[in-house]
Amino acid sequence: MDLLQDIVIRPLAKNEPVPYELLLLADPSKEMIDGYLPGSAIYVAQSEDRIIGEYVLYPLGGKAAEVKNIAVEAPLQGQGIGKLLLMHAVSTARAKGYRSVTIGTANSSVAQIYLYQQQGFQITDVKEDYYLLNYAEPIYENGERCKDQLVLTKQL
Ligand code: ACO
Ligand code: ACO
Repeated sequence: MDLLQDIVIRPLAKNEPVPYELLLLADPSKEMIDGYLPGSAIYVAQSEDRIIGEYVLYPLGGKAAEVKNIAVEAPLQGQGIGKLLLMHAVSTARAKGYRSVTIGTANSSVAQIYLYQQQGFQITDVKEDYYLLNYAEPIYENGERCKDQLVLTKQL
């Protein structure tokens, strides 16, 4: 079976539970997640009857949207599903009439920064100490502490 061929990306239905275990892979704070979910649209990647990935599209006001959260189930990472989700997020934002999409990630998230730039996002801002100021617990990635947030933007 070709995993990527089999994946359907669709909005999460109102009566479906939020797949927190996936959202928490991208953002370890449930409090932060619950802060941006109201008003956001959640899209999920489904393979057969299983939800294996997600992204959250948040309106920033005006014609700008932000991908607040994007994740793929850990054992399925590195097989192209994240790229598929990000391409879907961009085309969804475009279809909804947004003129730009931003995505924020930590200074330590080397693979994510690579993926976002590969998909046409450019670094537009650095929020110094973002992870120190907004998260109670220290976050480490690749042995490095998450400190600053890089903001990347794609014009649509
Ligand atoms: N180092 C370098 N490049 C990498 C790595 C790595 N460790 N992992 C993947 N890549 C590259 C791939 O080679 C691919 O590039 P290619 O097309 O040139 O081969 C590209 O990145 C996309 O890889 P995918 O396989 O599509 O990525 P994946 O399915 O793993 O999804 C994601 C990426 C969503 C970041 C996933 O790994 C994940 O869920 N990680 C944990 C949660 C997370 O960090 N989410 C993002 C937080 S920021 C936010 O949510 C706004
Ligand atoms: N991906 C991820 N990590 C890497 C990579 C890589 N491709 N290459 C090295 N590292 C890590 C190493 O694992 C090491 O980390 P560790 O201590 O946790 O194991 C760390 O980076 C340092 O590695 P070194 O072996 O000391 O690096 P190197 O001797 O290769 O020197 C340098 C780095 C100067 C960038 C060298 O590769 C180089 O000359 N590259 C070409 C020229 C260049 O790009 N120079 C920098 C341009 S910017 C400027 O000049 C201001």
